[in-house]
Amino acid sequence: MTDSQLKNLLRDMSLQEKIEQLVQLHGGFFGDVGMITGPAAEFKMSPNQPYRTGSLLGETGASHLKELQDRIVASQPHKIPAIFMADVIHGYKTAFPVPVAIGSGFDPELAEEIASAAAEECAAAGVHATFSPMVDVSKDCRWGRCMESPGEDPYLNSVMAAAQVRGFQGDDISKKGKVAACVKHFAGYGAPVAGRDYNVTEISEHTFFEEYLKPYEAAVNAGVKLVMTAFNTVDRKPCTTNKRLLRDILRDKMGFDGVVISDYNAIGETVNHGSSADSREAAKKALIAGCDIDMMSDCYIGNLKSLAESGELDEGLIDEAVYRVLKLKNELGLFENPYKDGSEEAEREIVFSKKHRELSRRAAAETAVLLKNNGVLPLDEKKKITVVGALADDRAIIGSWAIFADDSKTLTLKDALEKEYPGADISFFADDNASDEILEKVKNSDAVIICLGENQDRTGESMSVADISLPKSQLSLFSAVKSVNKNIISLIFGGRPLAIPEVANDSAAVLEVWLPGTLGTLGISDILFGKVNPSGRLSMSIPYCSGQLPISYIQFNTGRPKPETDCFIRYVSNYMDVPNRPLYSFGQGLGYSEIGYSPVRLSSEILTPGEKITASVDIENKGKMSAKETVQMYIRDVKGSVVRPLRELKGFRKVPIEPGEKKTVSFEIDCDMLRFYDADMNFTVEPGDFTVYVGKDSLTENGAGFRILEN
Ligand code: NOJ
Repeated sequence: MTDSQLKNLLRDMSLQEKIEQLVQLHGGFFGDVGMITGPAAEFKMSPNQPYRTGSLLGETGASHLKELQDRIVASQPHKIPAIFMADVIHGYKTAFPVPVAIGSGFDPELAEEIASAAAEECAAAGVHATFSPMVDVSKDCRWGRCMESPGEDPYLNSVMAAAQVRGFQGDDISKKGKVAACVKHFAGYGAPVAGRDYNVTEISEHTFFEEYLKPYEAAVNAGVKLVMTAFNTVDRKPCTTNKRLLRDILRDKMGFDGVVISDYNAIGETVNHGSSADSREAAKKALIAGCDIDMMSDCYIGNLKSLAESGELDEGLIDEAVYRVLKLKNELGLFENPYKDGSEEAEREIVFSKKHRELSRRAAAETAVLLKNNGVLPLDEKKKITVVGALADDRAIIGSWAIFADDSKTLTLKDALEKEYPGADISFFADDNASDEILEKVKNSDAVIICLGENQDRTGESMSVADISLPKSQLSLFSAVKSVNKNIISLIFGGRPLAIPEVANDSAAVLEVWLPGTLGTLGISDILFGKVNPSGRLSMSIPYCSGQLPISYIQFNTGRPKPETDCFIRYVSNYMDVPNRPLYSFGQGLGYSEIGYSPVRLSSEILTPGEKITASVDIENKGKMSAKETVQMYIRDVKGSVVRPLRELKGFRKVPIEPGEKKTVSFEIDCDMLRFYDADMNFTVEPGDFTVYVGKDSLTENGAGFRILEN
């Protein structure tokens, strides 16, 4: 359709029809039962009215969606097709590692490939739009949803946001295998006070603009088609009715011209927040604020018509929102082909294809993070190995947002090792209780793999915890194992960093394997036996304990900074019982090859506005295996009109490097990337001294100084 045809269509629609386009319902509303006695009745919708609404959430399957779409189009006065949206977060039927793991891949191409595979699968199943990527900066692993985010860092999350948008959408969402992406949760949802899901946030204006908003902005710049509002408040105002956030910042400042959708019932929940008197006021405020689609509340369907008819709400605002929804439908090509790619034949061909199965395995191998290794890894197949811990044979390790994944296809670690190494001497005890039999076996093994952490039932939405320690049963198992065998390889499963100080101390090797996806355990076995050299780096710091939370490598000097020591010092900013730094910091991770770094070189010590300087290091693979080294660049702005972070990630590159090979890795630095919000909230760069660090992780001291001169 041309734009003027779209506008004509809009002009021709009744007010009621327009409002129905702004309503999104789940599948329970459809079908005769749903419409007469079910949720549709609760929403006071007339029979068949759900079939006139603009979009649906959570329904998939080519033939099912074709049937639904046919009835929707037939029920629509203007034959407008619905958009089918779904949470395809880290895969559709083939589950890939959870997003916090994908962040740990430090590999935007991999993130794009995963998003693209997920898009192909769900598009074949009739889905038009996904509620992904979620890019909420998250520094608090008490919050169960940190699993869904690439991690703690604004820059990394921004790179991943753009990569995922490219993967889902390609350059044209009407093309085969592409879906519209929806970045979420706008904004600041990753910072609930005390790590408790849905809680309020308390974020300073500087931190909000400089850290939290950046990844959403990167998604907008990458052309994301939808933005989802967050459940939380920012500065005491619920995001969904926050005009400054949705109009001034998102639309005017960031230039977003796509569709804004509320989170599930978030408009209605502003009444619970105590900021709307009732659903009528909530509807009015949300539309004025710029929220186009009401996901799963009765606010818009129940109130917009009378609000507009009474003149309390400008009908022009309704038109504006409906136009955006129609435009998205048009961009998806739904007016020409309401099913888009949905076809049973395509489903058979694409879903769980060989290519996606291989990607599931490779992605897990690329995103697991080796945190410690005294040489016990990689394992020799000829050695006698015992695997212990209930998670060794748990299928619930694909991640809690892999809601459409075909669970029957999941391989547990036991399945994977038995499949890959049928002749090896590996014994399995998928149990957290250390019986005498188990300990006897462990004692007589060359190495023991212990599976620790959480399965997917303990992570994700609403799964916040106050204590991120390992369960007591796992700690007892670990100490029993330790008493008979020191060659312990600890695999840490989970959707969040867990506090593992004792385990880290007493293990010979520690591998963070996250929730690795359908065939992810094959990727883990590739690392364990040295078929793949681990290359993941932590996208979230692992704290010593819950008391350090929230934590991130982005730190500030206080007026009483701590000198370089781990001892407690009185009257400086530190803890009496744990160090300030986490157990493992952002960016950390090992491989099987030692990689040497030269000191960092700068092309100039003066950076002139409008020009660039280059920071370079030479790296060398001193080991025997091909490796991928993630070279990371951090910059410190030494003094500013507001206090500045001690370092911020400004670039990274994952570089393949063969044994004995040397490579030079360079990063350009310009003034734009040094801009920040000054004391008057101008986004600017201030003259002065800077330090650039280029090294293996956020702890690197490999630095050099440069300066921007006063002009
Ligand atoms: C609530 C979640 O917060 C959001 O991330 C998700 O996309 C919606 N439900 C729809 O399922």
